[in-house]
Parts: sequence; structure tokens; C-alpha cells
Amino acid sequence: MSEPTVVETPAALRLASERWRAAGLMVGLVPTMGALHAGHASLIRRAVEECDRAVVSIFVNPAQFRPGEDLERYPRTVEQDLALCAGEGVAAVYLPLVEAVYPPGFATSVSVTGTATAGFDAERRPGHFDGVALIVTKLLVAARADVAYFGAKDAQQCAVVRRLATDLDIGTRIAVCPTVRDHDGLALSSRNAYLSPEQRLQALAIPRGLAAAARAVADGVSDASAVVAAVELELAASPDLEVEYVAAVDPESFVPVATVISGTQILVAARISTTRLIDTLCAGVDEAPAVPPRAVVASAVGTAMAGRG
Ligand code: PAF
Repeated sequence: MSEPTVVETPAALRLASERWRAAGLMVGLVPTMGALHAGHASLIRRAVEECDRAVVSIFVNPAQFRPGEDLERYPRTVEQDLALCAGEGVAAVYLPLVEAVYPPGFATSVSVTGTATAGFDAERRPGHFDGVALIVTKLLVAARADVAYFGAKDAQQCAVVRRLATDLDIGTRIAVCPTVRDHDGLALSSRNAYLSPEQRLQALAIPRGLAAAARAVADGVSDASAVVAAVELELAASPDLEVEYVAAVDPESFVPVATVISGTQILVAARISTTRLIDTLCAGVDEAPAVPPRAVVASAVGTAMAGRG
């Protein structure tokens, strides 16, 4: 296991990448905000497998957080992240300070307009995708990667990134990798760390809802409103879950569809207290998430609450 080289500036990242590319090596980039989990590990593994050199960026990007969001408390686990990267055979970790990415005088914005940012998280978190588009553009430009890897759970982010990579002629292929789920079906996310045990049990309504959608689609239901209703029925069983949206959209344009076909994205966004969770199922492609039945969870919630006295 060799330690990855740590690079801290865009210029150092570009230099490393240019050297590899000049030697005919293929470069893969996995952009992250750190707090790496098995979902990130699956992206990293794919980059290591498919490319000659894998680069992981770790940067909690202030530009994509709105005032009052979790920028300050976002988990930061750099030592563990570096160990994970070393274990996976990553060649370089890009670990810049905020000032290296946004130096004094920085005055550029990147905004993806059109249907990809016409609703859903773009509406709920105004400015969020401008921040994502800005940092991803900067990362893709500096890393000169052949391929960049993103998780399918963040479906709207994937649509935004694909759009900007095409529109700005970046020349990096955007690879979208399947969602990795925990033993209980919850999609892995660095934000799951915020959930108390009973909140987590309630959050399982999200993958359970997506499992219901997958079953409905497998049973031949194609009416999008019926598929969405199947998800909503499961979500309604968790009283502490505040649903922001459930929708069926086209994966490229992100426009809601009337008919679910193979590849349609079924989206869920919901809050439990101050924790916001999103999840996605690619209809006809993803397997139904395996989640414990609702009755088992209900009794576990009761036990957890009783234990609190
Ligand atoms: O998905 C994330 O972790 C972030 O939005 C990304 C793509 C690394 C940009 O900061």
C-alpha cells in the first residue's frame, strides 16, 4: 500500500495530471467533500480499476452551502480519508485550502440554467448548484481527467455536471455510479452521521418508498403519479419525516415525466429535524432497496424511545 501524493493547489494538481497524461496514462477523478464512506470507496475503486492514475479531491466547498446550512458541522475526517485512499491505491489526493480554490479577488461564477436546475433541489437550495457547478468546473479544468466519477444518489447534481461538461467542452467523460446502501437500506451519505438511532429508523421510509416504486414498476405500473403515490404512502408512515418532494423525472433533462420507463429517476427529498436526506432510484435498472419491514422498525422505534426514559 503506497501513500498517495497530497497536492494542495490547482497548479500542483494540473502539473501531476499533465505529467501522467504526457506519459500516456489515463487519469480518473473522484470529486468529494471528504468524510469518505463505502459509497465514495466504490467510486474510487472504479476509478482505480478503469484508469491508470486515480485522483480523489477532498474539499468542503463553501460555495455550495447556503447560509444556515451545515457547512461548519459538515464531518471532516481527513486522516481516515487519506488512509482509505491509500488502501484503495489512489495516486494523488487533492486537498486544497479554501484560499487556494477561491483566492482574494476571485470573481467568477458558473451557472447551469435550463431544465436541469428548474426545480427540486435547485428550488429548495437556491444557489447550491451554482456552487457545485463552480467547484466541479474548477476541479475538471485543473485535473484534466479523462473520466470523473459521481454517485447516482445525487441525481440532479449528475444532470448539472453532465450539462456543464458538455456545454463547456471540458473533454472529461462523466461516469455515474450506482448508489451504495447501508445494511438497513439507507443510501450512504456523509450526512447520515447526523441522525439519532430513532431518526435513522424513521428515515428508512425513504428506501422503503423507493423499494415500493421499484416493485410497482416491476409489476408493470408505468403511470408516474401512481409510482409517486406508492413512494408517498411509505413516507407517510414516518411521522417525523418532512417530505420536500417525490417525483419521477427524465435523467438527462430532469423534466417530470407522465410515464415511467426504464431509466426514469424516482427522486425523494425529505428532512428529519435539521437533517436533509435525498435518495434516487433508477426505474427498471436499480434493484429494490432491501429494507426491514415497517412493523419491525415501528417496534424498534418504540424500544429506542422507551430507552430514553
Ligand atoms: O457530491 C459532492 O460531494 C459534492 O457536491 C462535489 C461533487 C464533490 C462538489 O463539491
